Amino acid sequence: MHYQNKLKQDTKIIGVLGHPIKQSYSPLMHNISFELAGLDYIYLPFDVPTSGLKAALKGMLALGIKGMNVTVPHKEKIVEFLTEISEEASIVGAVNTIVNENGVLHGYNTDVNGVLDTILPYKDDLADQKVAIIGAGGAARSVIYSLIRNFKLEEMILLNRTEQKAESLKEYFAAKMLYDKFKVYELVPPDITEVLKECKMIINTTSIGMFPETDDSATTIAESFHKDQIIFDVVYNPIKTKFLQIAESQGAEVIGGLKMFVGQGAKAYELWTGQEMQKDKIYKTLEAYLSA
Ligand code: ATR
Repeated sequence: MHYQNKLKQDTKIIGVLGHPIKQSYSPLMHNISFELAGLDYIYLPFDVPTSGLKAALKGMLALGIKGMNVTVPHKEKIVEFLTEISEEASIVGAVNTIVNENGVLHGYNTDVNGVLDTILPYKDDLADQKVAIIGAGGAARSVIYSLIRNFKLEEMILLNRTEQKAESLKEYFAAKMLYDKFKVYELVPPDITEVLKECKMIINTTSIGMFPETDDSATTIAESFHKDQIIFDVVYNPIKTKFLQIAESQGAEVIGGLKMFVGQGAKAYELWTGQEMQKDKIYKTLEAYLSA
């Protein structure tokens, strides 16, 4: 694709702010989407360290850049620099999408939309069940918010390498959303096998197993999984992580992170362009790309 040949005087610019940024598939996803819809937009990667965030947003306004995605490690830090924050971004405490509305920067969290695209189909299966969440970073926050808002669980189990961070998350959501059905464990694979086994759904929200570290898994103990479970990994590269491969070998239903990735992208695309992204087409295109 040769976007440079199509750029015109009024082409609208969208970008992604991250550090590093070269792992991101957002430029590919959005540029394909703009092309498919015939929209005169271009999506560019911006590698900006934390120290440059404030200046980058000033530049965004000065240059009239229409929108941005925000990725690791800026999703939480960026909040303080924005004028308007949506309700879910405010509760989650993280922004992954910015819209420049006539010189005012609005922050949204569309990761929540990506999570819901993925797990809402399992709403009935999860009623009064336990769900385990591995990790306590930004992705975990979106998952916890989505679960509290939309599901009636028996219990939410937070597991993290640094137990104190999971404790803090528990306290944060207890205060923000008055939710008190948490249990917290340190992520020590042999010790948590029984805990995981009792969960109807297990969600890996960490980057463990992401390309190029594809041999890593939050747990390698196959007995953690069984056929009545649903296992969701937010990692989408590779399409099927080691974590999912192990779970699948035990008969569990497994879901990779690509649906969430496309879901968050689609909501951001809608906020910028006012149009719907062709999610199924984009999903298939990225799936083929990542499987090649
Ligand atoms: P994100 O915003 O993508 O969730 P993050 O805020 O940096 O990223 O959070 C990363 C999460 O993955 C954390 O829960 C981290 O555990 P710690 O709190 O102990 O740092 C977890 N994580 C990342 N790499 C890990 C690894 N190799 N083993 C265990 N946990 C890991």
